Amino acid sequence: MDKDLRRKIKNKQLKIAVVGLGYVGFPLALEFAGKSIEVTGIEIDNDRLAAIANRRSYISDISNRQLSDALASGYFKASADFSDIKEADAILICVPTPLKGRDLPDISFIKNAVKAVSLHIKNGALVILESTTYPGTTEEEILPIFQNRGFRHGKDFFLCFSPERIDPGNKRFPMHKIPKVVGGINPEAARLAALVYHIIIKQVVPVSSARCAETVKLLENTFRLINIGLIDELSMMAHKMKIDIWEVIQAASTKPFGFMPFYPGPGVGGHCIPKDPLYLYWKAKSFGFNSRFIRLASNVIAYMPEYIVKRIEEALTRRKKKLKGSKILIMGVTYKKDIKDLRKSPSIDVISSLKNKGAKIAYSDPLIPFLKLKDIDLKSVVLNDKKIREFDCVLIATDHSAVDYGRLLKNARLIFDSRNVFKGRLKERVERL
Ligand SMILES: NC(=O)c1ccc[n+]([C@@H]2O[C@H](COP(=O)([O-])OP(=O)(O)OC[C@H]3O[C@@H](n4cnc5c(N)ncnc54)[C@H](O)[C@@H]3O)[C@@H](O)[C@H]2O)c1
Repeated sequence: MDKDLRRKIKNKQLKIAVVGLGYVGFPLALEFAGKSIEVTGIEIDNDRLAAIANRRSYISDISNRQLSDALASGYFKASADFSDIKEADAILICVPTPLKGRDLPDISFIKNAVKAVSLHIKNGALVILESTTYPGTTEEEILPIFQNRGFRHGKDFFLCFSPERIDPGNKRFPMHKIPKVVGGINPEAARLAALVYHIIIKQVVPVSSARCAETVKLLENTFRLINIGLIDELSMMAHKMKIDIWEVIQAASTKPFGFMPFYPGPGVGGHCIPKDPLYLYWKAKSFGFNSRFIRLASNVIAYMPEYIVKRIEEALTRRKKKLKGSKILIMGVTYKKDIKDLRKSPSIDVISSLKNKGAKIAYSDPLIPFLKLKDIDLKSVVLNDKKIREFDCVLIATDHSAVDYGRLLKNARLIFDSRNVFKGRLKERVERL
């Protein structure tokens, strides 16, 4: 069976299915289609399917033109019907892995997708899970779904885990430049997955097991979480000690080895850093191990929106103003610069907290014209000099490129800069995290 698959890969005749056309699956599908590989994207969200049909991209990294070209080439199509994967030689699963409540892994999307795949998969196909998840998921949760339907691994199908490591918006490292880690249920599965990824990615890094590949991704994101938690804590410490943390980071970054800069901010968001380490935390708990670092960093970061509100309140008090009744403009509500993604955005927590304290909130974000979330129902403010002067304080929560910061600096009465956009300029009116 694997010979057949190898031949198809070599001749670029294989067909690929990507399950879940989100931030991960959509660019992945187009990457293969761009190499003249026939790709079927399976998506259950009707709005996303309709957008694709109308050639309208809902992902910042994909332009409408790219989508149109992919559809016109005939190498990419999207469908809600799982039976469309019946001819696929490789099936890549990129569905969400959120948290249940505050910190429990929810792998129901993976299980549902895999069950649907197992009903339609053809003999000899390769299945690769890309969703970030805890170690053991591929072997303990996915493999049995196929086995229970009578599939024998290594004979009737092959199974791997390969973490997606894309960084939305990062122009320096597009997908094809990011080495791909693969771990299989057996070495042959990993070898096949490596051949598939080599079509679009230069460097593939095989590891000894799916469990190792799952943990690689969690190490990477836990490393980020802990370093962000550390620098957030140090920024609060430095503020008390009247030390400029931004200057400290800049100078420390001149060390050519052994240091990597991380920056403080209003918290972390998106569908990775806030939750991936908690998957590892949860799994480790089942082995009787308590990861104190993960818990501590999560708690420090979770406090940041409240800390920002406290600092804004202090800044207003120094100017003889009360937070209650003050007009606050939030600049940037997405979780990341230049990325249209509101998932777990700390700006939303800041807005809720400011509202609870009686502040009057408005926001401006070039990527989000309307904000309807939780108890928030707002329209993005169009900025002009007069409008900016109406606010008692402007919070730079997310530092999108398309904002006229000069105009803000010229007109705002008070700015709280949580992203170091102003690099310490105009100290009497700009307070920094
Ligand atoms: N967003 C990132 O930057 C990033 C980076 C690396 C890894 N990841 C991981 O990749 C996975 C996917 O993340 P994402 O950001 O692309 O999520 P997303 O929510 O943007 O996309 C997932 C898509 O899967 C679809 N879906 C859900 N169940 C399905 C099913 N049964 N069949 C078909 N489609 C289904 C959803 O409708 C959605 O469109 C997660 O595990 C995440 O942790 C994300």
